[in-house]
Parts: sequence; structure tokens; C-alpha cells
Amino acid sequence: MTVSSQSQRQTQLAIMRRFAAYIRDGGSDLADAPMVNDVSVYTDPARHAAERQKLFRETPLVAALSSEIAPGAFRTFDATGVPVVVARDGGGAIRAFLNICPHRGARLVRQEEGRANRFTCWFHGWTYGADGRLIAAPEADRFCGGMAGRDHLVALPCEERHGLVFVIATPGLAMDLDAHLGSFAAVLGAMGLDGAERVKSGELPVAANWKYALDTYGEGYHFAALHKQTLAPYFRNDITIYDRFDRCHRVSWAQKDWDSWASKPECEWPVRAEPAGVHYLYPNTILFCGSVSPGKSYLTVFRHFPGEEVGSTVTHKAIYAFGGVKSPEHRAEVEAAFDATAHVVMSEDYVTAAEGWKNMCALPPGSTVVYGRQEMALQNVHRALADGCGMALPGPAGVREAAR
Ligand code: FES
Ligand SMILES: [Fe+2]
Repeated sequence: MTVSSQSQRQTQLAIMRRFAAYIRDGGSDLADAPMVNDVSVYTDPARHAAERQKLFRETPLVAALSSEIAPGAFRTFDATGVPVVVARDGGGAIRAFLNICPHRGARLVRQEEGRANRFTCWFHGWTYGADGRLIAAPEADRFCGGMAGRDHLVALPCEERHGLVFVIATPGLAMDLDAHLGSFAAVLGAMGLDGAERVKSGELPVAANWKYALDTYGEGYHFAALHKQTLAPYFRNDITIYDRFDRCHRVSWAQKDWDSWASKPECEWPVRAEPAGVHYLYPNTILFCGSVSPGKSYLTVFRHFPGEEVGSTVTHKAIYAFGGVKSPEHRAEVEAAFDATAHVVMSEDYVTAAEGWKNMCALPPGSTVVYGRQEMALQNVHRALADGCGMALPGPAGVREAAR
């Protein structure tokens, strides 16, 4: 067993002890108090513009999993509105560049992903290496010096950590991943993301503010009503385990069949070596370890990106097999899990989000929403996001500190 799977087992066991106590004795992790938030946080164009700039142009974002860009491979990343290409050279070094040809602005790399150690612009044929340097340009002598300063692609801050590739979509900014991840780095480090193999990906659009979409990943309170047919048969909505790690968190909910082991000795518990739960990585990423079908565990990554309009969002969703795909049957199973989750999100969560966001726009100024004590993950998200773009924090607080 690897170090990360040993540490995952210990983490799972600790979480299961907390679940078992709540199942036996009643109770749940709860925030100290409800929190109110102004509806304008979801509807105000000025707030939206500030978030697009501060949270999506000046903050490290997950551009890919490390496993998605092998040596000699590349992948484009356009979701912030800034065209980016991330390339790993043959030696393993990873870099990100504006995917904009320095000659006259053409899109340099036009494939979503692939393998290449050089990129040739389709407009006039300038060719750049995976290190960003200009290798060749047709008839270079006739430019007579006009190529000065255009012999390198514009580099973007780019670093890998714990199996994730982070990019800041603005050239010249400093990348401080230790500060960005805070105490969540240890959680990511134990998750085994390096060995995750992508099986299927897609985009889930929703006509709602991106935070309304993000909110649907943070609480199980809605399982019994909204997901009556899909999740409620398997998951309880009354027992939540919640741990905050600075601006990030992990949240999970009890399964209905867990009564079967909660009163037994620990040696009989079905402790798994894979991570479990919904992990929020500030500002826009959800790493869901589990499945809408109990007993199966996959990694599903949801990255939420705001469009230009306040009420437009695209969620980039991809599912991965921990430790790689084992067989064609395993691949089919993971693909089916992607489809099952996408169905729940699109037909239930995002229908609600679109209607709810439209309703918010009809409310009078000064209206608020409330996040209950069991919606503590939302309380954390909205405090962190407001802080991240220099806005007033919602209140009152009440998110308890993580048990570390
Ligand atoms: S715009 Fe790329 S070579 Fe001219
Ligand atoms: Fe949901």
C-alpha cells in the first residue's frame, strides 16, 4: 500500500468515526449560526466583473491534471477568456503561454490537446518550441529586425502541485501556491491525483451566476427534496461531516445503509483507501471523490467558469479513474458514472440554479438569501470569495475551524 493510500485510510477512518457517532447518537457537524448574503452578490454586474478579474485572471486556477499532459504533450485552456496553452517538454518541464502568436495575434495552437514539441502558426508559419522560443519563421530576413521582441511566446505563471497544473491567466504575476492552498495542500497531497487517468469530459452550461451553480455542490440538505429519485434513496441529508482548510474544505454526507456497520467494532468497518467526499479548491474547483452510486469511487473534477454575462456559467467536468483504467469494463463503468452525475446535475441542480438565479434578478434591492447551519460549506465559500475580490464579507460568521 502506498503512503498516500495509507494516509487516506487513516483519514477515512477518522471521518467514519465521526459519522458512526452521529449515526448512533444523532447530530451532525453544523455552523454556529446561519449566515445571510446579499442577493446582489449573485446579480450585480460590477461584482461579476470584479470576480472575473480578481478570481479568474489573478488567481491560480486548475488548468489540467498533471496526468493529462504527458512529456511532449500540450493542452489548451480557454475558460477564463484568455487563450492559454500548457505544454510539457520532453524533459518533463511544464510551462504555460498565451496561445496568441506574437506576429499578428493568430491562435497558435488550434487543437484542444495533443502531442507536439513545436507549434507552427497557421497564418504565416512562425514556429515556436514547447519552451516558448521562436524556432523558425519563413523569410525571416525580409522582416529586417521587425521580429525583435517576438522571439518568445508570452509566458504565464504555471506550476504543478500534487497532480494538478495551476496557471494564472495574467503574465507577470507571482504564483505562490503555498499561500494559495494553505492547509488544503496536505489534503491534496494525500489524494493520489498523480495517478488519476481521465476517462471522459464535457461541458455543462447553466444560465445562472457561477456561484449559484457552485453552491449546489456544497450541501446535502437538498438531497431529500430535489434529488428525491436520484440521490435520496442512498444518501441522508441530515448528517454532514465538514472540515475547513483555510479557504478550501471537504464535506461529505452519510449513506443510508451505513447503519449496518456504525454499531459494529471498527475492524469490521468497510474502510476504503480512496479519498471520499466533495473537496472545494478555492476559487472555482470541486474535486468529488465518490459516485452517485454508493460503494463506487471515482474522481470527478468540476471547474466552474463565469461567462461574460452575470447569469452565464460553464462547468468543465471530467471524470478520472484513480490509479488508471484497469480494463474495458472498468472504463465503461467510469463512463457510465460520468453520465449519471451529469444527468443529476443538468436535470436537477442546474434547472434549479437557472430558475433560482432568474428569480434573484426579480427581487428588490437589499434582498438576501440565507445559508443555514448545515450549509456551512456555502458559508465558507462565500466568505472566501468575498475576501478574494476585496468585497464586504457576508455575516454573521459561524464556520467552525477544521479539526486538524
Ligand atoms: S500571426 Fe502567426 S505567423 Fe503570422
Ligand atoms: Fe444537488
